[in-house]
Amino acid sequence: MTVTASDTTARAAGILSRPATINGLTVPNRIVMAPMTRMFSPGGVPGEDVVSYYSRRAAAGVGLIVTEGTYVGHESAGQSGRVPRFHGEEQLAGWAKVAEAVHAAGGTIVPQLWHIGMVREQGQAPYPEAPAVGPSGVRTDGTEGGGNAMTQADIDDVVAAFARAAADAERIGFDGVELHGAHGYLIDQFLWSGTNRRTDAYGGDPVARARFAAEIVAAVRAAVSPGFPVVFRYSQWKQDAYDARLAETPQELEAILAPLAAAGVDAFHASTRRYWLPEFEDSDLNLAGWTKKLTGKPAITVGSVGLNGEFIKAFQGEGAELAGIDNLLDRMERDEFDFVAVGRALLQDPHWAAKVLAGRFDELAPYEPASLRTLS
Ligand SMILES: Cc1cc2nc3c(=O)[nH]c(=O)nc-3n(C[C@H](O)[C@H](O)[C@H](O)COP(=O)(O)O)c2cc1C
Repeated sequence: MTVTASDTTARAAGILSRPATINGLTVPNRIVMAPMTRMFSPGGVPGEDVVSYYSRRAAAGVGLIVTEGTYVGHESAGQSGRVPRFHGEEQLAGWAKVAEAVHAAGGTIVPQLWHIGMVREQGQAPYPEAPAVGPSGVRTDGTEGGGNAMTQADIDDVVAAFARAAADAERIGFDGVELHGAHGYLIDQFLWSGTNRRTDAYGGDPVARARFAAEIVAAVRAAVSPGFPVVFRYSQWKQDAYDARLAETPQELEAILAPLAAAGVDAFHASTRRYWLPEFEDSDLNLAGWTKKLTGKPAITVGSVGLNGEFIKAFQGEGAELAGIDNLLDRMERDEFDFVAVGRALLQDPHWAAKVLAGRFDELAPYEPASLRTLS
């Protein structure tokens, strides 16, 4: 049977436009905006331009927005004065407007709560003197020094900061939270043996390395209502080490994810750079697929969706292979995962989701890095 472009477009719309739930939250469709640091929030305050940046995408069909990483209220959490903070009166007032505008546009939204740990090099206001902190004072490139191994008191402070941010998120109108446990930042520095060399209860085997993350999840869970969704993002890869792996086998992955699910994670966001790559041998499942299989929780996939000309041509029926989009749709049809997050394609085109859901594929354009420079 010949697969025509119109078969594919109808199938894409059908599969992607179905609502789905995460804990108490109904997300109107399967398209998620991936968290993307933009650095357009001077003083850590998201302003009107940030409000319209997110609400424009909600109005144009994104079902769930995960905001850019936003620093929790701990003095070592970040290093940029232009990354939004998730603490402080003015900052939270700015965020409340973002949530309100996204809801008015028919979307749902969760902030991505972030602590960068040993990635911190030099801090800007308001905490220029605060040290970098991490499980063992080791950076993701393996170098030592320039930061402190966290004491139990440091750990307790950071856990409390995540819990406060989550409680604030619920109070100011967000639909849930996403915890940034990916890409070599603080939570991931505990999860990964390359940066976690502790010999206490927070280091050693995968379960011990997951303890810090599980304590954060449990504290967040206790700080919010039972029906308030908690999403956990994680990755194998690190910012400085694309080939790094948290888990070499499904068993190792399960050892990390099971305590997090038990602590109260409602959905996992498995960050990969190319969603179609199998994660382990002898199975076609990608990382999100394994995550759902091992935990039974809803999973979000991500990685190079809609970026290249081939994907777009496939929609446009120009004779290109349909593998790109059909691969994604096949996996979603099999319920390998529940949602697909889209990053750069949504920077390029705020209307990407609406166009895909309505089959207006001839209006999609390939990604250009110039789109990083504006908040359009
Ligand atoms: C400009 C930019 C900023 C990003 N910032 C974050 C971030 O704050 N938190 C995060 O978890 N991932 C971040 N990412 C990764 C994206 O969420 C996403 O996983 C990645 O871009 C792959 O998806 P894509 O191929 O659809 O762009 C960022 C990516 C880009 C391009």
